[in-house]
Amino acid sequence: MDARRLELTSFGLDGLALVTRAIGEPGAGEVRLRLEAASLNRRDLLLVEGVYNPKQALPVVPCSDGAGVVEAVGPGVTRVAVGDRVALHFFTGWISGEPTSDKLATALGGPGGDGTLTTRMIVSAEAVVKLPEAIDVATAATLPCAALTAWSAIVELGRVKPGDTVLIQGTGGVSLFALQFAVQAGAKAIGLTSSEERAAAMRRLGASAVVNYRETPKWANAVRDLADGRLDLVVDVGGAETLDQSVRCVRPGGTVALIGVLSGNFATFNLSLSVMRQVRLQGVTCGDREAFEAMLRAIAVRPIDPVIDRRFPLDDARAAFERMKANAHVGKILIDLSETT
Ligand SMILES: NC(=O)c1ccc[n+]([C@@H]2O[C@H](COP(=O)([O-])OP(=O)(O)OC[C@H]3O[C@@H](n4cnc5c(N)ncnc54)[C@H](OP(=O)(O)O)[C@@H]3O)[C@@H](O)[C@H]2O)c1
Repeated sequence: MDARRLELTSFGLDGLALVTRAIGEPGAGEVRLRLEAASLNRRDLLLVEGVYNPKQALPVVPCSDGAGVVEAVGPGVTRVAVGDRVALHFFTGWISGEPTSDKLATALGGPGGDGTLTTRMIVSAEAVVKLPEAIDVATAATLPCAALTAWSAIVELGRVKPGDTVLIQGTGGVSLFALQFAVQAGAKAIGLTSSEERAAAMRRLGASAVVNYRETPKWANAVRDLADGRLDLVVDVGGAETLDQSVRCVRPGGTVALIGVLSGNFATFNLSLSVMRQVRLQGVTCGDREAFEAMLRAIAVRPIDPVIDRRFPLDDARAAFERMKANAHVGKILIDLSETT
């Protein structure tokens, strides 16, 4: 049996090569999946460019997110059966509890081994979660990294309550899921984005007001006013360029969820404001499998709309990375794997 897959053989988009590899039977505790769809996250682009981890062993199959069907199970597997529809879990070794260095070293499509840009893969049965009936495979392929990160920021760590006010930065994968989870939690969501078209997308998903950070580069006051001085949580994906303003606009005792570092890794921000207003800085790194399963149950009851920017066939996956690199996308970029099996 064969798998068609995209391997990163050297850093850079030119290092991506479509290859066919023989794939065997799953061993004890393993499953073989026939993947139908994968999706890109920013870290996948950073991995390809050698920025995420310059020491990443190559070749590696990029991407953590994917979903499909269990095609074969190895001895001793009881979690899933042949024919089950499943999604991959991002940190294959983080099942529950507090994060540890060992658990965090298991991210698929990187330190945890080959990822999901492949038509078939063999993984530990512990690395997959069964999909509820109500969730289709394409939706599921968008969820493992971006949606679970958003869920952790809004629900698990952010503990957003009805009546809270949340600031969502950007219209990428994580941000549009965070916006939807915040609205579902009964919060007022304020958006921050770079264009009127993107602001309209945020309003369609339930943002009550949107600030354009190109027109208003110092947006902290505007956001604080829109929140009537009571901004409970900021979903910060900008990092270096946004953290100072995030700290300025959040209420005393509020939380800044540190999710991304799109504008740089080292920030200068007002420490006194954080200390004297007792602001909580909460790093977020995806989540554990129990949280993933809780999120899937929640989505099955109250569906969300994974904003799918564009679909690419596996043969054209390079163009998908180029689209992300150009910041041309809104929401998730999907790779269709079913056509090529
Ligand atoms: N910690 C985690 O567990 C985790 C998980 C997933 C992702 N991340 C990180 O979160 C960030 C977003 O990931 P993603 O996959 O959602 O990326 P993405 O889909 O590529 O989205 C990026 C979006 O962020 C906005 N943006 C770009 N530069 C910005 C800046 N300087 N300041 C503010 N906003 C900016 C843009 O939207 P607008 O034009 O609308 O502003 C852009 O489309 C990345 O840094 C990624 O590495 C972290």
